[in-house]
Amino acid sequence: MSQHQRIIRRSITDIQAMKGNAPIVVLTAYTAPMARLLDAHVDILLIGDSLGMVLYGFDSTLPVTLEMMIAHGAAVVRGSQQSLVVCDMPFASYQESPGQAFRNAARVLKETGCGCVKIEGGREMAETVRFLSERGIPVMSHVGLKPQYVHMHGGYKYQGRDEATRAAIINDALACEEAGACMLLLEGVAESLAAEITQRVRIPTIGIGASPACDGQVLVSEDMLGLFEQTPKFVQRFADLSAEITRGVAAYADAVRTRKFPTLTHCFGTRK
Ligand code: KIV
Repeated sequence: MSQHQRIIRRSITDIQAMKGNAPIVVLTAYTAPMARLLDAHVDILLIGDSLGMVLYGFDSTLPVTLEMMIAHGAAVVRGSQQSLVVCDMPFASYQESPGQAFRNAARVLKETGCGCVKIEGGREMAETVRFLSERGIPVMSHVGLKPQYVHMHGGYKYQGRDEATRAAIINDALACEEAGACMLLLEGVAESLAAEITQRVRIPTIGIGASPACDGQVLVSEDMLGLFEQTPKFVQRFADLSAEITRGVAAYADAVRTRKFPTLTHCFGTRK
């Protein structure tokens, strides 16, 4: 075996083969250093348009631009070696027509090197999912709570509370699968609904605020690492980085103020 054996990135077919065999681990990443830290532990890195809220401080994902997604997408690809990288298509970059979606999704694939795009929408986007998939662009379809529909949903509320909306979300999932989606992201849906969809589709389902029965799980990394004060119900904190950052920053400020940092060992051309 060569010392410099290339690490092969997971492909869509590798991920699809995990359905029914092993849980698929997904986390968001927006930057190269974060991608480098997560890469060995996950199957998929997602450049979510949640970066608009998490990194840029917007109050929704709607202001995120294609240029922002491409810049962060390329950084995540540079920072990772083995995960499949999926990039969100931002609001207004794909909804107008299949042609618009193709042009912009092709830019994402060409300019970032990622292997799949994610678009929000069910039946209404099925024609677009088909147009992209048939032309070589793998699509993860995002159904249930769709943050780009925040004004239509009237906030970020879990979906599938009554029979009519349950049936609509099932139809969304089936329509996207039939149109060629390679995976489904189920966000903020009733648990039993996510379990039913997972059982009915042949493609993997990735859940967030969905069900343990989904084929995989995704969280926003900053949420599960404790970089925010508030954690939503569907998040578990696996670390408390806020406390650690606060401790480190306070120690640095104290060291500067008390002239304990820098010492001569941190300086160049020091006097003998
Ligand atoms: O944008 C994002 O981070 C997402 C996750 C909520 C899955 O779509």
